[in-house]
Amino acid sequence: MNAIIGQSGGPTSVINASLAGVFGACRTHGAEKVYGMRHGVQGLLKEDLVDLSAALSAPDALDLLRRTPATFLGSCRYKLPKDDDAVYESLFDILKKYDIGYFFYIGGNDSMDTILKLSDYAAKIGSPIRFIGVPKTIDNDLTETDHTPGFGSAAKYIGTSIKELVRDSTIYDLKSVTIVEIMGRNAGWLTAAAALAKDEDCEGAAMICLPEVPFDPERFVAHVEKLQQSTPSLVIAVSEGIRAADGRYVCELGDNSLLVDAFGHKYLGGTARYLCSLLSAKLGVKTRAVELSTLQRCASHTASLTDITEAEAAGAAAVKAAYNGQTGMMIALKRVSSDPYRCESVPCDIHQIANLEKTVPLAWIDAENYQMREPFFDYARPLILDELPPVYVRGLPRHLRLKD
Ligand code: F6P
Repeated sequence: MNAIIGQSGGPTSVINASLAGVFGACRTHGAEKVYGMRHGVQGLLKEDLVDLSAALSAPDALDLLRRTPATFLGSCRYKLPKDDDAVYESLFDILKKYDIGYFFYIGGNDSMDTILKLSDYAAKIGSPIRFIGVPKTIDNDLTETDHTPGFGSAAKYIGTSIKELVRDSTIYDLKSVTIVEIMGRNAGWLTAAAALAKDEDCEGAAMICLPEVPFDPERFVAHVEKLQQSTPSLVIAVSEGIRAADGRYVCELGDNSLLVDAFGHKYLGGTARYLCSLLSAKLGVKTRAVELSTLQRCASHTASLTDITEAEAAGAAAVKAAYNGQTGMMIALKRVSSDPYRCESVPCDIHQIANLEKTVPLAWIDAENYQMREPFFDYARPLILDELPPVYVRGLPRHLRLKD
């Protein structure tokens, strides 16, 4: 039988390493053909498929794929309907037409909703197709897994960027505030990674504001004013998802009317800009808003080798689980030890994962709510370790692109 792979949701710089892991393991397990869905399940519905054996036939293809950011196959934010049998009938007809026995979906908590719904429907109609999810998201908000592939590399990029911004921020002898806006929606894991910048060569982020803690603008301004009595130039990390006490996102406090995706998530952005104008107005200091935006999830030139290795291993583990007869599972990373660091890939029931969010434990945030405590460092430090340098061509990293 054949296998099919899709990528879904926001990308990471290692999501293609998972694709390489699934593809390589499918070949090892003897899948006759391995298809890729263009733009996830949305493409599958249109039979927009690629033959991955052909697309990845070049000798250096897998090596470049693991170093290529974004989704090689394209992505989607598509929510399968709850009770529309016609959609499922059409999807299962397509899967039958292509003789698919194994279905792999690389994504976050919304994408795991697709694995949940398809595996439940397969059980309902007695289909033998096996559906397995492979985790990915820079947000690190999936339950049941110690962390998600993609988080470590984005955390490494955040730590690196904060270090560089802190050096840059100290050049002038004047009061200034640089606010760095970091992705992660309602989970502050990635913003917390700003804490990793602090070391003997770096003062670190002066404040870290996570969405787990209600944001009080007045208290924020007062704290900045207090810190600037001794440190004129500050770099502050804020999550795109911080909310005021009334539940509104801080980026909505301006006149921002935010668009919403298929899963009801608002497209967030503008938090740093809003806070910079607030500080300029209240304190009269120089401010700069840095919205790292998509750079933090596609910076494959600073990816963590630990992350790349785990992403690929999670892909291979998904194939092993499917060929062992499992379905309706996502591969979770279970931390066996922190020192020395070791994680294992284990299948976990999708019903415990899809649509749920794991946030940063409040006990890991300090009493003032502006810094991280030691358990966060123990947790995050191993995940950003080691590098896989890009293949440089004419001075720039070489990527693998799917040709039309
Ligand atoms: O998938 C996670 C994520 O990168 C979030 O951190 C971010 O808020 C969101 O995706 C952005 O979504 P989009 O790529 O659809 O703009």
